[in-house]
Amino acid sequence: MVRIPAHDGHPPDASTWRSVLLVQADEAGPERYRPPMSAIDDRLDRIRRARRRLDEAGPRVTRGEGDFARVAVPMHDGDALRDLLRAERARIVIEIGLGYAASALAISEALADRSDGATQHLVIDAFQDRFHDAGWRELTAAGLDDSCTLLRERSQTALARLAADGFVADAAFVDGGHAFHDVFVDLAFLRQIVRPGGLVILDDCQWLSVATAVRYFEVNAGWSPEATRGDTRLRAYRLPDPRVEPSFEAFEPFGVADSSEPGS
Ligand SMILES: C[S@@+](CC[C@H](N)C(=O)[O-])C[C@H]1O[C@@H](n2cnc3c(N)ncnc32)[C@H](O)[C@@H]1O
Repeated sequence: MVRIPAHDGHPPDASTWRSVLLVQADEAGPERYRPPMSAIDDRLDRIRRARRRLDEAGPRVTRGEGDFARVAVPMHDGDALRDLLRAERARIVIEIGLGYAASALAISEALADRSDGATQHLVIDAFQDRFHDAGWRELTAAGLDDSCTLLRERSQTALARLAADGFVADAAFVDGGHAFHDVFVDLAFLRQIVRPGGLVILDDCQWLSVATAVRYFEVNAGWSPEATRGDTRLRAYRLPDPRVEPSFEAFEPFGVADSSEPGS
């Protein structure tokens, strides 16, 4: 089984980091590893229980009253994320923004469902320590530190390195820094990292900063909106296959109308 060695991100030693960089989607071929069905069922059961526990009882530690509800991806949006990745038959998923791990557990559920090959889940979070490691604790409590790797680093630099080293993912989930420039840079590198025809899923497109960043890729880079469940706030985009290299001469302005403005 090809896998990025698990670590808690404090910080990755040279061999771990090198392994992270060397993982290629096509190295984790489905024929290489087939866990027994009973192990898959046990794992799925454990993840589902962890998701339910987190939703009902909240995280083991929080930054403060109400923070979990404010920050974490709600359960039904986590279900939508899981269903998108399941339908995608994704094996290698890159996630930005661990927070309380509500989304990470949903991604883990989608990956655990794959009975036909190796999977990998790479999470990038620069400020997990400010969450008292809440998300990482949820993942380790669910026994997922064998399949999830946490990089404690700004995604804008981690993704640049992963792209330079040819890391390939089937899909990405973006819920990290919400400033326009952070989201835009994340998406610019994910355009290189996510395979042609793969999926980029975002939370929080109700924020103009996030919606405007992704709009560039829709208008200028051939990303097409993918249908999602009607009840989710998540948005998904299908990357073109083959990858297109937009010409600066064909650049289209890409603003998003602010629907909160009077008269708009
Ligand atoms: C909204 S929370 C993510 C919530 C998570 N999806 C969940 O369901 O619990 C945003 C996360 O992004 C991280 N973050 C913010 N800016 C970042 C950056 N520039 N690079 C990496 N991580 C960042 C924060 O530490 C935080 O954990």
